[in-house]
Amino acid sequence: MVHTLHRLSACLIGSFITIHLFNHLLALGSIDAHISFMTYFRQFYRIPVIEALLLSGILFQVGSGLRLIKNRWGERRGFYARLQAISGGYLAFFLINHIAAVLFGRTLHGLDTNFYFAAAGLHISPFQLFFVPYYYLAVLAIFAHVACALHWLSRERLTLEKRNRLGFLIIAIGALLSLFITLAMAGVFYPVEIPTQYADFYGNSPETATGP
Ligand code: HEM
Repeated sequence: MVHTLHRLSACLIGSFITIHLFNHLLALGSIDAHISFMTYFRQFYRIPVIEALLLSGILFQVGSGLRLIKNRWGERRGFYARLQAISGGYLAFFLINHIAAVLFGRTLHGLDTNFYFAAAGLHISPFQLFFVPYYYLAVLAIFAHVACALHWLSRERLTLEKRNRLGFLIIAIGALLSLFITLAMAGVFYPVEIPTQYADFYGNSPETATGP
């Protein structure tokens, strides 16, 4: 039962996550492209009832996921079964922090939680040490988690060799996309200048918040 509900809720929030990650890929082009798309997409997911559904779906996903990890603790055998639990555990940690930070920034600090809000942590010392792996692993964990789910779900249709290859391909694509998203936010493709209000969020002066 927990499995079925966990998969159902994954499909619902999966559509948001797909568009959310596409939004971040647009940062490869420019900050304007990222912000314009987010502004457009917000018209839908910021509708109070939709946002409430999305956030409760995420909470359910985290809770049910942690329960699934606990139920099979010490019983998982093989690379994909273990990776499923590790990537799920990381996603639970990431999502709780990520959503709390976005809601906190929006409500208590009155910030527009756009590209600059996400990128600020990558430009202010010493926060990069936390935020580079934090974001990189989040996008990678999503792909790894999906790869593991497909590895399991296709067990009666595909040979083990094909399932392993498919899983590896999905993880490799995730690793590459995640690298590009993180590098774009870190200002590797074009300079990123963090506006004062976002630098202040980290208790830093804007001078130290200029992209490399
Ligand atoms: C590089 C990785 C990521 C970055 C830079 C990032 C950035 C952001 C930003 C800036 C927002 C605020 C959006 C707004 O104000 O409208 C946000 C919201 C959100 N993100 Fe992410 N995100 C990342 C990855 C993820 C992943 C992997 C997930 C899910 C597994 C996720 C789930 C969410 C959710 C659920 C919201 C809340 C939407 C809302 O109610 O406003 N994010 N993210």
